[in-house]
Order: sequence, then structure tokens, then C-alpha cells
Amino acid sequence: MDTQMTFPDRFTWGVAAAAYQIEGAADTDGRTPSVWDVFSEKPGAVRSGHTGRVACDHYHRYEEDADLIAGLGASAYRLSVSWSRVMDEHGKPNEQGLAFYDRLVDALLERGIEPWATLFHWDYPLHLFNRGGWLNRDTADWFADYTQLVVDRLSDRVTHWFTINEPQVYIDHGHSVGTHAPGMKYDQPSLLRVIHHSLLAHGRAVQVIRDRAVRKPSVGWAVVGCAAIPVTTRTEDIEAARRATLRVGDEPGWLFNTTWFADPALRGEYPEEGLQLHGKHMPDGFEADLPTIHQPLDFYGANIYQCIYVRADEDGKTQHVTAPPGGPYTHIGWPVTPEALYWGPRFIHERYGLPIYITENGCAGMDWVHQDGKVHDAPRIDYLSRHLCALRDAVADGVDIRGYFQWSILDNFEWGWGYDMRFGIVHVDFNTQKRTPKDSYDWYRHVVSSNGGCLPTKQAPLITDFGPGALNATASSPQIAISAFAPNPTSPSPQGA
Ligand code: GCO
Repeated sequence: MDTQMTFPDRFTWGVAAAAYQIEGAADTDGRTPSVWDVFSEKPGAVRSGHTGRVACDHYHRYEEDADLIAGLGASAYRLSVSWSRVMDEHGKPNEQGLAFYDRLVDALLERGIEPWATLFHWDYPLHLFNRGGWLNRDTADWFADYTQLVVDRLSDRVTHWFTINEPQVYIDHGHSVGTHAPGMKYDQPSLLRVIHHSLLAHGRAVQVIRDRAVRKPSVGWAVVGCAAIPVTTRTEDIEAARRATLRVGDEPGWLFNTTWFADPALRGEYPEEGLQLHGKHMPDGFEADLPTIHQPLDFYGANIYQCIYVRADEDGKTQHVTAPPGGPYTHIGWPVTPEALYWGPRFIHERYGLPIYITENGCAGMDWVHQDGKVHDAPRIDYLSRHLCALRDAVADGVDIRGYFQWSILDNFEWGWGYDMRFGIVHVDFNTQKRTPKDSYDWYRHVVSSNGGCLPTKQAPLITDFGPGALNATASSPQIAISAFAPNPTSPSPQGA
């Protein structure tokens, strides 16, 4: 009994963060601007005019932050490398920028924390954007050169690599809707190029890592785990959810899907359903790139915060089911859907067969330092606990899940929301840079030390009634759109899905 209540031996417990969201030091030691530096300076682009110029000043405080990670007992930390910090505008290494990652990696290793490095977490170098950015096919070569630089420098110590992070988000928000950097609103053919070149860059990077790494690498990516949850375990509902999870659409928000990205990378082909919709706009000769895009991966990293609920209607068609009015929602307005960590990994594993890591999962909270000097973030604890219970159920049902990275160790620059959305298990006072571990930090420490054994044996239901009377089902086949992802600087609480 006991063993079922914990996670597998050698399960990886980690926390995550990303360069632009925490490092600050925007002009320090030869770093050049990224698209996020410019975008966030644009009036109205980011809520309250916040930028990542200082962020958590992690560039100077990484030792303190490494202590915080070590204090959790976490064995892994998912960080990202800033392209524009380590490579100059002529493609030459920036020694001072590289030295920062040396120091960071060493600080982690000294504390027994394995660094898991993401090569691209959205902070695309501005000078390359000015040469066409992801629209320019050469971006795949530029990314390969940058990857080589980082791998040559760090792969004597780093063994876990992610190529790109959440292409769905930087492409939809950054290149279609325009609410993220670089703030573009491209047409469909251009978007398809951006996707294709991102996938090509991914494939080239995997090749470079495997060719050059000093220590045997474990290579994956971290993409949005777009999935649908069946509201009951009826076979028809599960089938409806599986269909919705694998579906490629063409409506606004269609970029939030799994197969258009993962099929080329993991099966060497774009999904047929998507080709019927988008094939006519694809870049010429795209098929020739598929072997490069299709590289063997060691694991599938899925970032999962929320999913949609679906069921099958009387004709077996997929219906989108909305939760009862009034939430639960997190502070950023995203619905709380813990079963996402059961069905997401399950459907993804079924299709691609790779070991799965949850590379991000977390909750924005309305957190502040209370009168007793502590940060009591009970909703975050409940959110994480429920999601981990669902993940444990997936493990128990045979899904090969190897690890979990909580997002995030620190409150940080939440993209279009600036500092107004706090995802950390450590509170950051952005005026003083004081770090205060929240209640969830202590709670997560127990989860890690007990290998999940301190979680409730069974998750109490969150939404108790999905019955027909409570359903507000739409007839159409839904996309997996996670529209609540879209920050809208002018409105305090975007709603979604
Ligand atoms: C990502 C994420 C993070 C966000 C987190 C909360 O793509 O990896 O967007 O950078 O901060 O998902 O929105």
C-alpha cells in the first residue's frame, strides 16, 4: 500500500525558472538586447510597464537562490540560458556571459542540484530578429551555432538539455496575437514558417547536442501539454478527450495543440488532419526537412497548468464542457483542472511512447507577506497537491513519468503580466529583492523528502457535479486553446478556454 502512495524510486523532484524572468542584469557584462527587452519597453505592452531589466536580480544573487533550491532538497533545477548573454552580435562567444553560467552551474552542483538547461525560453536576440527572426530559415543555423557554443562550454557538467520551450506560446502570443514579444501579428503562411523553422532549429540543436556533448546527454524539449480531460470515465468520453487532445484545428488559438508540433519532431510527419487545413500555406519543400526535425529524444517535457473538459455528445462528437460558474480559478484567471496531470501525460505517452517529465506546473496566487512575517499561500498548496495526486494516479496506471518540476522557485517577471502574477514558492519583494519562502515552500520540501508520501491518499473531488444539469456544453468541436494564457494588459483578469 505504502509504495503505491509514493512516486517511483529515483523520481526527479525539481523547480524551474527562466533567464529573462529572473536574471535581470539586462545590460551587464556584454549582454545584448533580446526581443523581450524591446517589447517590454513599449508603452502598454506589459502590464504596469514592467520589464525584466532587474527582475529577481538572480544574475547577482544566484548563490542565495541556489541555497533556496538546496533547502528544498530538490535534486534538479530547470534553468534557461540567455542566448543574447552568451553570444555577441557577430556570433562570437561572450566570455563574461558564459562565465555566469559556469558560476551558476557550479553553484548548483556544489549543492547537489542537477542543472537541467533549456536553450531557448523566448528571449530571442534582437539583432537576429532584425534579420528576420524565426521567419528566416537561417535561424535554424543560428540556433545550432548558439547550441554548440553552450554545449561546448557546459556539457562537461550539464547532462540534461531542453531545446525549445513552449513553441505554442511564443508563436501564438508573440507572432500571431502580438501580446508577447516580438509583438507580431503574422498571417497564416508566415506562422507556418515560424513553426517549421522552430522545429528545424529544435532538430538541429538535438544533433549538435548529441555530436558535441562531453557527458552523455539526455535530450528533450518542454512544450505546452495541450490536452483534454474527459468529464467521466465512460469510454466515449475518454475517446472524445483523446480526439480533442490530438486534434489540429484552424480557428483562432489553434496553435495550442500538441500534434502539429510533436508529430514532426517525434514521428517525422505533420499530422494529416492539419495538412488538410494548412498544407497549402506550408513553406515549399518542407518535407525535405522532416528527417532533420525528427531526431530521437530521450524524454518528453510537458508544461501543464490547465486543460479543457470535454465529453461525447449523443452522436459521439466532442463537446467542450465548462466548469460551474465561480471557479475555481487561479489568480491569473486559469481554471484549476488537476486531472490535467493525469490525462495530459497519459495521452501524450500513448502517442509518443517517451518517458515524460512534467517540466512546469504551478499556480499564480494573491500572495503577500502577512503580519507574522510569513506568506500563507494555502490555495497554491492545494493546487499543487491535487495535481500531484493526479500525476501519481497516472504513474499508478502505468504512464512512464520520471519527474516533476514545480514552476517556479521564485516570484518573477510573468511576461505580459509583469510582476503582478506571482508563481513562486518563494516570495520576492521586487523593491528590496528580499526572498521569503512561502508556506508552499515548506510543503514542497516535505513532498520531496517523502517522495510524495505526504500527499493525501486520495484527492477529494474539486468539481463535484458535471452532471447534465450543470453542463454548459458547446456543440462545436473545441480546440485545446488555452486562451487564458494570453495576458491582456488592459484587463485585470482574462478568462479562458
Ligand atoms: C513557460 C511559461 C513560464 C511562465 C509560466 C506561467 O512557457 O515556460 O510560460 O515562462 O512563467 O508558464 O505562465
